[in-house]
Amino acid sequence: MSDTPSRSHGRKAIRPSLQPRDLMSPGAELARAWRAQVVTLFPEAFPGTLGLSLTGKALKDGLWQLDTVGLREFGEGRHRNVDDTPTGGGAGMVLRADVMARALDSARARMPEQAPILYLSPRGRPFDQAMARDLARTQGATLICGRFEGLDQRVIDAYGMTEVSLGDFVMTGGEIGAQAMLDATIRLLPGVLGNSASTEEESFSSGLLEHPQYTRPTEWRGHAVPDVLLSGHHGEIEKWRQAQAEGLTEARRPDLWEAFLRRKGSGQG
Ligand SMILES: C[S@@+](CC[C@H](N)C(=O)[O-])C[C@H]1O[C@@H](n2cnc3c(N)ncnc32)[C@H](O)[C@@H]1O
Repeated sequence: MSDTPSRSHGRKAIRPSLQPRDLMSPGAELARAWRAQVVTLFPEAFPGTLGLSLTGKALKDGLWQLDTVGLREFGEGRHRNVDDTPTGGGAGMVLRADVMARALDSARARMPEQAPILYLSPRGRPFDQAMARDLARTQGATLICGRFEGLDQRVIDAYGMTEVSLGDFVMTGGEIGAQAMLDATIRLLPGVLGNSASTEEESFSSGLLEHPQYTRPTEWRGHAVPDVLLSGHHGEIEKWRQAQAEGLTEARRPDLWEAFLRRKGSGQG
């Protein structure tokens, strides 16, 4: 376990050796980078998959920066305890409010005040593309990874955390969820994807699931790609893709389909 409570990743990331004064007056490039701060019992899980491919390159290039905050460093006593039994009884352990508050007070001094504090939680608002888009327009966010039975409610309330869920299932911790949310957000930052059109046409961007994709070979095990895609008629290809996207959405996601029809009906579609 590192002795420093906070670890940063990426070429232009904040380094623990920087003095608080430096952190308050970052250079132009440092100030422009989108700032991800993750409070976790497992800082070694980061950057994880975010260090690969496009998000990894963007981290190295300073388009975003990652500041991991090891919760254990703020624990109680010689053993740095971070959890205790649930008040009122019940199974498992709960992350202590005082320990989390110490970690957050230290961490938030390095973040813009308006950056949201997001607590990964199965009880939270389901994360979606609209939220990723909103987050990408901010300067950054602090993500809190729970463990055990979760976090003492008092610290959730006191710090005005927004609870965000990755879906209706329960994982052992918030780290995978935090990486998923960060990946979805970072790829929307200007300059991260080479071809920005790819975020305009993909699933959810128009409220529909994306049409099927094909590539070479044009015939594989007796299956040809749809003729229209080889026709060179861009208008026809567009119509086919739109029809496919609508058909898929209607069949697989009635919730999205109804919302799409409502928007279309009101002239916003
Ligand atoms: C075992 S879970 C706690 C579940 C909690 N007792 C409940 O029933 O809502 C431990 C941690 O994993 C994370 N987690 C688990 N499932 C998640 C999900 N679907 N979305 C986001 N975070 C999740 C949260 O940070 C949570 O605090």
